[in-house]
Amino acid sequence: MFKKICFKKSIYMLLLSLVSLSFSEYSVSRHHGRHKMPHETLEIENGMVKGLELHPYNGDSISGVKIYRRGGNIEEYERLVVLPEPGNQDVHIHLWTYARFTAEIMAEHALFFALLIPKEIEKNAHSEALLFYKEFAHLYNDLNKLRPGQDEDKIKQLVKKLLQDMEHFIEYKKQMGKKQETGELRSFVWPLFFDHTRHEAERHHARIKALDEGKIDYEYNEVVKFWTKIMAEHADFVAHLLDPQERQLFNQALKTGRQFYQLYGASPQKLETEGILEAAKNILEFKTEAARKVAAAQIKSIIDPRLADHVRREALKFINEYEHLLAMKKNSQNASSPVEYGKNETY
Ligand SMILES: [Fe+2]
Repeated sequence: MFKKICFKKSIYMLLLSLVSLSFSEYSVSRHHGRHKMPHETLEIENGMVKGLELHPYNGDSISGVKIYRRGGNIEEYERLVVLPEPGNQDVHIHLWTYARFTAEIMAEHALFFALLIPKEIEKNAHSEALLFYKEFAHLYNDLNKLRPGQDEDKIKQLVKKLLQDMEHFIEYKKQMGKKQETGELRSFVWPLFFDHTRHEAERHHARIKALDEGKIDYEYNEVVKFWTKIMAEHADFVAHLLDPQERQLFNQALKTGRQFYQLYGASPQKLETEGILEAAKNILEFKTEAARKVAAAQIKSIIDPRLADHVRREALKFINEYEHLLAMKKNSQNASSPVEYGKNETY
């Protein structure tokens, strides 16, 4: 009997050391940037990382840049969306807006993980998330202060760092997703949330890298496939974060999710361009209303108002990219013979 207990105990100790080994290996691989693991302590207070907020955009208007608002005055949890004017072809504007947008999104992913991974249960995974928040928040705040066309060298330097950090974050999301799925990680982050945010990071990384190399073109099929799946998953996330009594909204969210899965599954060649744009605008409206109601506690849910605004901004990025495709199509039609969508053209 005693032997059996000892055997069980040693297996348990072995497993425990393997788990901590994988974490410490991971931490070592992260000793690359300005913020080193694992000695720093970061704390969350009132849902924010103490002393490190994501600064708002100061509202500067920049030629070739479009600033999106929810409409009217800026609301409490609203963050402005700063993207290229659709049809703009200035690579500096594309690179800066994309990098700024992504650093903000990555910082928020890290914050959501930190909020959803209890430090009392998963100390290492929680502090790793906070460190990612810290790195991306610094990058975002730095990028937010710079301006395209004026600060090109600094922007390039930050982009390099952003791409490196994103590679580590992609690995973190991959590892944590697997651990959550197998029960090695006990958190409130769905495996799909790790996967979803990893796909976003992988796509944004590829786009920023291309822009950094001066490649500005979007590919129609890629834009449609990527964003329709992201929108479908957002709708499903909303459904699953609502209070079980919010039946009407729950059904509406699920229906929206199904619509986007259908768009995702359809061959882009067969899709009406207006159909996609209309669906994107509908989901933007749905998310904007949900963000307002979540903030005002008019919806029963466990949705953080920042998450509601985060997914709203992503819908705007989708619309912005799609409108860019439309503008480029129009330009090429004016310049030469008509071009059709869905045939692997780039714009
Ligand atoms: Fe996201």
